[in-house]
Amino acid sequence: MASTAQAWQLPLKKVVNMTVSPPVVRTVADLRARTADARKSGKKIGLVPTMGALHHGHLSLVDVVANQSDFVVVSIFVNPTQFGQGEDFEAYPRDEQADLTKLAQTGADLVYIPNVAEMYPAGDASKVSVSGISDKFEGEHRPGHFDGVATVVSKLFMQCLPDVAVFGEKDYQQLAVIRQFVRDLSIPVHVVGAPIIRESDGLAASSRNVYLSSRERQIAGQFNLVLKKLVHAVENGSVLIDAEQAAVEALLSAGFDTVDYVSIVDPATLEPLIEFKGHARVISVARLGKVRLLDNMAIGSSL
Ligand code: PAJ
Repeated sequence: MASTAQAWQLPLKKVVNMTVSPPVVRTVADLRARTADARKSGKKIGLVPTMGALHHGHLSLVDVVANQSDFVVVSIFVNPTQFGQGEDFEAYPRDEQADLTKLAQTGADLVYIPNVAEMYPAGDASKVSVSGISDKFEGEHRPGHFDGVATVVSKLFMQCLPDVAVFGEKDYQQLAVIRQFVRDLSIPVHVVGAPIIRESDGLAASSRNVYLSSRERQIAGQFNLVLKKLVHAVENGSVLIDAEQAAVEALLSAGFDTVDYVSIVDPATLEPLIEFKGHARVISVARLGKVRLLDNMAIGSSL
């Protein structure tokens, strides 16, 4: 942060951007009015959908979209339809003021924070459901989850009408589901995938990491190391099923309570692979107490 003396020498816009949060709108009508104005003045609209509890992973998405658009909208909405029964919808971390303070340091031009009634008006009866790619992995462990994601992301697209939207590779299957319905429904939004942002020990940044006890947080740091080892083994000729099995065992001996899956898949279709043919993705979920940690890595050259 510049000292006061230095700050006086900066152009006014820069000084203001360091301290003032972007404007907030809470209704579809207000969002449309702002984005229509931006569009009228020839600006390309970028959207970053989030559920808040923002961390540096989310903020990196704002940077990515800011490089590809002229008016950046960040949405914050904890979407009830993507949480299953017994999941953490009520407890999901929410801190609007902290989120806005973080967004003040980014290129966000507008923050959209609808409430549940605005997003799902009474009598609402439609949803977007993507078969196939939604059914396995996260879909199997969290039935209905991707219907909730696909529905809310479609709504956000229709409400904001962005030219480009960015999603993290951290939620690799989510990104694949979004690409699928955008293609299937001919939605004119360019979907961009952004790399996983990690903590200093390599743990993928996540809003749910705050749930980890300090003991669990230490164990969590092993996750990426186990996946890195798997990537190395596969790139050096290991049989895929052996590499997957070795990773499951390594996670359990590192102290993870359960491993939902470690699977080497086709990076586009997420179909499990038997043989490595130059490019693949390992996707995995392991649990520590009540926390499900997701991670994934590219194997070989990317597509
Ligand atoms: P949320 O978990 O808040 O994540 C918002 C976006 O940030 C997603 O695209 C996610 O992949 C990305 N992200 C999270 N952690 C990241 C990390 N460590 N590195 C890079 N990107 C990261 O994902 C959702 O919300 C919701 O399902 C949503 C798409 C908003 C629909 O409700």
